[in-house]
Amino acid sequence: MPAHADVSAAIRAALLQRDPRAKVMVTRNVARDWRLGRLPLGFSATMPDEPGRPARPELLSPGQMPKRGKAGSERGRIALWHALGHIEFVAIDLALDMAGRFGAALPPESAREFVSDFLAVAADEAIHFALIDRHLRRLGSFYGALPAHAGLWSAARETSHDVLARLAVVPMVLEARGLDVTPGTLARVRGAGDQRGAAILQRILDDEIRHVRFGAKHFTALVERTSEDPAELWKSLVARHFRGMLKPPFNDSARLAAGLSRDFYAGVVCEKTHGITHARETAGGSDHLQTLRT
Ligand SMILES: [Fe+2]
Ligand SMILES: [Fe+2]
Repeated sequence: MPAHADVSAAIRAALLQRDPRAKVMVTRNVARDWRLGRLPLGFSATMPDEPGRPARPELLSPGQMPKRGKAGSERGRIALWHALGHIEFVAIDLALDMAGRFGAALPPESAREFVSDFLAVAADEAIHFALIDRHLRRLGSFYGALPAHAGLWSAARETSHDVLARLAVVPMVLEARGLDVTPGTLARVRGAGDQRGAAILQRILDDEIRHVRFGAKHFTALVERTSEDPAELWKSLVARHFRGMLKPPFNDSARLAAGLSRDFYAGVVCEKTHGITHARETAGGSDHLQTLRT
C-alpha cells in the first residue's frame, strides 16, 4: 500500500521530486494509485511554492535565451525538442499542483472528479515528457543539455490564490495555445521527414484537447455556482492574470472540441489594449473562492 496519508501527500511528494525520470515515475504512480482507490481523498499536505527541479537545465529569462539555430539544422531540431520537453516537464508540475492545491478548495462532491481529472492530466504530461526526452536522446541530446525558459512557472505563482484564475490561465489560455500552434509544428516536423517526432506531436495534440476540456468543464461548473457569466469572468481573469497576448490564428475546431467556444476568446485580442483597466474593475477584486464559498 502507498505510504501516504492521503492524495495530497502523494501529490506533494511528486511535486518535490527533482530528478526528471523520478518525477515521471512518481507522478504516474500517484495517478495509478488514485485511480485504483489506494489513496484517500484528503488535503492534509500543502503544496510547495516551487516544485523540485533538476540542477539542469539552467533557467533563463526569455531575453537571455540563445537563438535556436536554423529550423532545419540539427541544432535547430534539438533546440525545438528541448523547448517542447521543458514545457511538458513544467506541465507535470502544473497539473499536480492543480489537483493538490485546489482540490482542497472545492466541495467534496466536486473535489473527487477534479482530482481524478487533473491527476490524469499529470500522468499524460509525464508520458509526453518521457516521449520527448527519449526523442532528444535519439537525436544525441537530453533534457538539461540546453538552457530553458524560466517563465513557465510564473502562471502558477500568479494564480496560486484562486482556482478560477488558475483554470482560466493554465488550461484555458496556455494549453489552448498549444492547440493553436502544435499543428504547424507537426507539419514542419513531418515535412522534415521526422515521422517519429510527428507521431509524438499528434499524440500530444490529441491529449491536450482533453486537458483544455477538463479546464473549461471545471471552470464553467464552478462559475455556475455564482451569478457570473463564465465567458465574461474568464476574460476579466485573463486580463488580470495573464501577461502575454492572445494571438490568432486560433485552432477553432480543436478549441471547440475542448469546449472553448468563441464566446470566450472572440474579441479578446482587439479588446486587450484598452480592455485591461476595464476588466480589472469588473473582475470583482480579489479571491473568487470567497464567492464560491458563500
Ligand atoms: Fe502535454
Ligand atoms: Fe497538457
